[in-house]
Parts: sequence; C-alpha cells; structure tokens
Amino acid sequence: MSNNLPPYLTISQDISADLAEAISVIQPDKIAILIDENTKKHCLPLIDIRHEEIIEIKSGETEKTLETCNQIWSKLTDGGFTRKSLLVNLGGGVIGDMGGFAAATFKRGMPFINVPTTLLSQVDASIGGKLGVDFNGLKNHIGLFQDPNKVIIHTSFLNTLSERELKSGFAEIIKHSLIKSQEQWNYLLSRSFESIQWDEVIPKSIAIKSTVVDADPREKGLRKILNYGHTIGHALETHYLKSETPLLHGEAVALGMILENEIAERMGMLNNEAKTEIKKYLENIYQFPKMLPGYEELAKHLSQDKKNDQKGLRFSLLEKVGMCTYDVLVDESILKDILR
Ligand code: GLY
Repeated sequence: MSNNLPPYLTISQDISADLAEAISVIQPDKIAILIDENTKKHCLPLIDIRHEEIIEIKSGETEKTLETCNQIWSKLTDGGFTRKSLLVNLGGGVIGDMGGFAAATFKRGMPFINVPTTLLSQVDASIGGKLGVDFNGLKNHIGLFQDPNKVIIHTSFLNTLSERELKSGFAEIIKHSLIKSQEQWNYLLSRSFESIQWDEVIPKSIAIKSTVVDADPREKGLRKILNYGHTIGHALETHYLKSETPLLHGEAVALGMILENEIAERMGMLNNEAKTEIKKYLENIYQFPKMLPGYEELAKHLSQDKKNDQKGLRFSLLEKVGMCTYDVLVDESILKDILR
C-alpha cells in the first residue's frame, strides 16, 4: 500500500534540492514563503531557496481566519505577486490549509507548495486537498478542495517538535491503521512509541489516507471514515479550548477513538477484545484529563459536526481493526450513557 502516494507528494531526503526541482517545474516569476514565529525559528533555517518575500503570521488555530488571509493577500498584492508567482507554505496544518486557501483564491489561483513541518500535517493535512479557514468559531467553515502543486515531506522537521506534539500527530497514524490496516496496527503494537521509525511509518500512513481520498475525493461517502475518533474528538477539543489545559488535536482524537469504540461495542459492531486492546494501547501513550465533560456540555459541540443530518448524529465507527463504517446513526441514549 505504501506505493500509493499522491502524485504531487515527495518524501524528501534533501528538502532544498526537492524544492528547487519543484520550483524549476513551476517557473514562478516571484516566490513568497509563508511562516509563523515557530517555523521562522526552527524550519526556515533548514531550507535554502530563492525567495522575494517572507510573509510571517502568528501561529495557532485562532489565527486561521479570513483576517489573516487579508494580511497574506495584502503582502502579495503590495509585493507585486501575480498568478504566475508561487507561495511556499512552511508550517503545520494551519499554515498549509490557510496558505493553500489564500493562494488558491489570490487572483483566482496562484501555484503553491506545502512543506508540512509537524507530524500531524505530514500524515493528515498534506493529503486530500482540503484548504480553508475557520469562521465565527466554526472549524474549516470556509474553504475548498484543491491539491497543492507539490507537497514535500522531510522527517528532519520532526526533530523540532516536542514529544507531546509528536504524539498528537501519531494519533492520526494510529487512526489510519485502525480504519484500514490490520498489518500496520500489528506493527504499531509490536513496538514502543520511542522506537517508531518515522521514515517507515509516515509513507504507509499517507498511502492509507491516499487510497481513501482517491476513492472519494469530495467526502460524499467513504472519506468519512477518516473522521473516526473525530466526532467526539472535535467536541472534546472545542470544550477544552477554554480550559487551562487545552487538549492537542491528537490527544482529543485518541480519547475520541476510545469513546467512539464504546459506542461501537454498545451497538454490537466492535468486540470487547479489540476495544480493550485499543484502549490499553492509547492509554499507555496519552495523558487524558481525569474528569470528562458530561453529555449536555459535549452535545452543544457535537451538533455542529458536518456529518450530521436531519435524522441525528452520524458517526464513523469501527467494526474491527482495519474496517470502519461511516454514517452510523447513534441514538442519543447511547451517547448519554457513554458520556455519563
Ligand atoms: N482529515 C480528514 C480528511 O482529510 O478527510
């Protein structure tokens, strides 16, 4: 499966050489690099390419807005950038999604290259062409589907991350294994987090996501399985955003996978053995909050989930390791019971 990498994606051994090659194909008249204060410090020094402009924005999900896009569009406009120019997005999911959105809409579209620098963005946002920004507190509410001209992944950027951030990205690798690959799950089970070989695991994880996205690029059906763990995960992430100890995305998703597996077991879809094996594995890696919010609190956030319809709350649930079903209608009483 690891051969099924998207055509626009390169797993790089030499980031500057691969960027230079991509640039020689695009032949831009000008190049801007989009960074935040973290990638300016830790990642920009690792790349050496010609550029006419550096656009620096503040890091964080709260900056993923149309206001920040205004700053990017203003810089591009003032700098004389054209539809033949190039934007290189150097950073995590926010930079990639928002920089891609800003480029795809600037003068109706200029080329862009994403260089994802976090594990989370390397195995998730880098594939599948979802671009956009948050709007009025709603995640990724404004956006479009469009693949970047190039995505270049280099694992040396991972050395700049804390263990907590690395583990957050790892949750998406676990998710990909659980929804589509018993083999990859067995690999994860067979070693400790510390001994994971990123060069081996990242291409496999990307290939799993790529297979799903190829089959359903616009998320009409199958692609929804990538939301396993995310329905409750997003609600938890939003809930803890306001607390003193916010959860990282992957931590919320890991907890979401545990709780959604409880639902799947209750609905007779997942057996107890698999549920317990996954729970034990995740609890060994992640630190979860001792007290969880109750149903009433989480329901407020769950109702915003994009997968829902008039009939109620829809989940992507595991049937067994390697097999996930989407659009499962879950009764409120089960949710209340699980989240009690
Ligand atoms: N992150 C889920 C997706 O790309 O569909």
